[in-house]
Amino acid sequence: MALRTVSGNGDAATSGEPNASLRPAQRVLSAAEAVERMADKRRDKRGCYAMFSSYLGGVVTDPTVMTVPLDDHMVHRGHGVFDTCSLVNGRLYRLGIHIDRLLASAVGARLRVPWSQSELMQMVADTAAASGARDGIVRYWLTPGPGGFSFMPAECEEPCFYCVVLDPMGFGAGSFDPMRDGFREATVRETPQKPPLLAQIKSNNYLLNVLTHLEAADGGGTFGIIVDDDGYIAEACVLNVCSVSNDGVFVTPPFEGILHGITMRRLLDLARGPLCDEGLLASVEQRPLRADEARRGAELIMSGGDTHVFPVVEWDGAPIGDGTVGPVAKRLHELIEAETASGTGSSDDFIAVPYR
Ligand SMILES: Cc1ncc(COP(=O)(O)O)c(C=O)c1O
Repeated sequence: MALRTVSGNGDAATSGEPNASLRPAQRVLSAAEAVERMADKRRDKRGCYAMFSSYLGGVVTDPTVMTVPLDDHMVHRGHGVFDTCSLVNGRLYRLGIHIDRLLASAVGARLRVPWSQSELMQMVADTAAASGARDGIVRYWLTPGPGGFSFMPAECEEPCFYCVVLDPMGFGAGSFDPMRDGFREATVRETPQKPPLLAQIKSNNYLLNVLTHLEAADGGGTFGIIVDDDGYIAEACVLNVCSVSNDGVFVTPPFEGILHGITMRRLLDLARGPLCDEGLLASVEQRPLRADEARRGAELIMSGGDTHVFPVVEWDGAPIGDGTVGPVAKRLHELIEAETASGTGSSDDFIAVPYR
C-alpha cells in the first residue's frame, strides 16, 4: 500500500474538504488549532515560570508559547551553549561568573554573540523579574538562531538568546533528603568520556552526560562517577567530585578535561578558608585523584548547580567512610546555604532582581 504523507498531499490544506482523506493523526492543523492543542497539553504544567526569547523580543509566561524554532541550529545540530544560575530570596547568585563561562563556551563553539556580558546579565535579571519568582533555577542558551536545516551556521538569520526561570527541582522520590541520606553511586566506565574540547564547553549536546546517568542508573546510581582507563576520577554526569581523606586532605581533580565547575570553585575557597580554620580539614589539593584512593577515603562529595553539595555514602555497593554523611559535606552545605540565603559576601555574587 502506498503511504500518503501530509507534505505529499497538497490538496489537504487547500481543497474544499480539507483533511478528508487523511488519517486523524495526519490532519493539517490551522495555526489556531495548533495553539489550542498546545495549550491543552501545557495546561497545569508547572515548572517554568517565564521564558525570554530574543527571537520574540520579549518574555512569555504562558507555557503554551514557551517554544524555540525547530530550525534554530541549537535544536537540530546541537550547536548551542548554555549555563545556569540560582535565584535565591530574590537574588541571582554568582550570575557574572556563570555568564563569563557562557561566553567562554560560546567562543569554544564559535558562536557569534552580539551581546556584552552586562547586556546578557540584564536580560537574565529582567526575565527573573518578569517571572515574579523569588526562588528558582535560571537557565539560558546562546544559539546561532533559526535559518534552515543545513549544518552551516552561515545560513542562520540572527543569533538568539533564550532564558527560562524554573521551579527548583527536588532530587529522588518522596522523602529522600541528600544531606541526611546521601547518594549511592556507581562507577561509569563504558560510556565514552567527552573529548576535552567538549567537556570544557557547556554545550547543548548532553547526550554523553545522559548516557553516563543511564549507565550509572543501571548500576544503582544516579549521577555516576566517571573513572578513566588509568583509574582516575573525572567527574559525574552533571557534577564535579571531590574526596576527603582520613587525615583531612580535600582533593579534587584538575579542571583540564572536565567542566570548570563553579560550585567546586566555591567549595575550594570554603575548604581552604573556613574548613581549614575550623580544623575540619588539614589541607586542600587540586590534583589527579585515583578512584581507589577515593574509595578508601572518609568522604566523597559531588557538587554542582551552585547550591548542591551531594555526599556519596556508598560507591559500587561499598560504604564510603562509615557510610553516613560526613562532617565536611555537612559544613560545606551549611556555609553555601547560609551564604545564598543571607546574600552576604562579595556584592558581585548577588544581584538583586529588579521586580516591579
Ligand atoms: C559535566 C558537568 N560537570 C560538572 C558540573 C558542575 O558545574 P557547576 O558547579 O558549574 O554547576 C556540571 C554542571 O552542569 C556538568 O554538566
